[in-house]
Amino acid sequence: MTAALQIDGVHKWFGSHQVLDGFSLNIEAGEIVGLLGPNGCGKSTVLNIVCQLLSCDAGQVRMMGEPISELGYRARALIGLCAQDCALYPDLLPAENLHFFARLYGLSDRLRQQRVAELMNNFALQPFAATRVGKLSGGWRQRLHLAVSLVHRPKLLVLDEPTAAVDLAARMDLWRLIEGLRDSGTTILLTSHHLAEAERLCNRVALMRDGRVVAEGSITELLARVPGRAVAKVQSADKAAIMQRAHHLGWPARQHAGQISLLLPHYLGLREIVDALDGTAVSAVSVQPVTLDDAYLELVGESTCPKVKRKTGQRSSLTST
Ligand SMILES: Nc1ncnc2c1ncn2[C@@H]1O[C@H](COP(=O)(O)OP(=O)(O)O)[C@@H](O)[C@H]1O
Ligand SMILES: [Mg+2]
Repeated sequence: MTAALQIDGVHKWFGSHQVLDGFSLNIEAGEIVGLLGPNGCGKSTVLNIVCQLLSCDAGQVRMMGEPISELGYRARALIGLCAQDCALYPDLLPAENLHFFARLYGLSDRLRQQRVAELMNNFALQPFAATRVGKLSGGWRQRLHLAVSLVHRPKLLVLDEPTAAVDLAARMDLWRLIEGLRDSGTTILLTSHHLAEAERLCNRVALMRDGRVVAEGSITELLARVPGRAVAKVQSADKAAIMQRAHHLGWPARQHAGQISLLLPHYLGLREIVDALDGTAVSAVSVQPVTLDDAYLELVGESTCPKVKRKTGQRSSLTST
């Protein structure tokens, strides 16, 4: 089957800074795929290349088998983008924004009236029909932003950190809207900082580091790559003793942000864990199933800085540096 979106070996440099280093990812029609990675690792750059707001230095992006570079104007009709920077006009009303973008996409008057009414209704925007967008709360603005990105019924919806700047209640509202789109078969590529968001919304997750995908799969597949079925979080004044004891027990042990995580072969009770740690100074312990956070730390690590590579010569150095 032809993938809805196929990103193949994409490289991108900003001056001497290599941001993408052979980035590849496929998305099937109807899937919702989450792209996760540390700040500055190149997530928005990938989305901007998919939306043709940026060109890539090497590699190819295809939509339904056709290179996007050859789709020209048609690419705009196929893709809906909800970028990190809100593209709405603050002095216009919600429906005026929808009309404006519908006109940009060349919808006929009749279709435009119909779509705007439909989106105002489906996104429950009617109570704010007379409120200028600049006066809307962050959550409602983002809701309208999402509606605007759908005004031309794109085949692929691209969401760049759709809930980054909103409070928890608004985030949950947006999740419900995105779940509705997912359930109605919209193909979605989204980036997120919230692992819980990806866990809840995505069929598949791609973890990114150093300009490429380092792991991808369903949540279940990614969880299976953690060498443990449950995680004990241990606090202790003597971390070295805990690490040593864990090594002796054959439990993989990790230290993140000053806390020790012990990857257990199966779920154990607190008493069993303390007994197994046998006399080491444990001040607190909790146990929980493996989550996407553990998989992320295992597969991507804690790094928050993208690796900066220096250009050393011609294009041929892209993959060898
Ligand atoms: N237009 C640009 N010019 C120069 N550097 C850029 C540009 N856009 C992004 N970058 C750099 O590329 C890297 C990746 O950025 P970005 O794709 O926005 O990361 P993310 O979305 O994962 O946080 C960052 O180091 C950023 O500073
Ligand atoms: Mg970004």
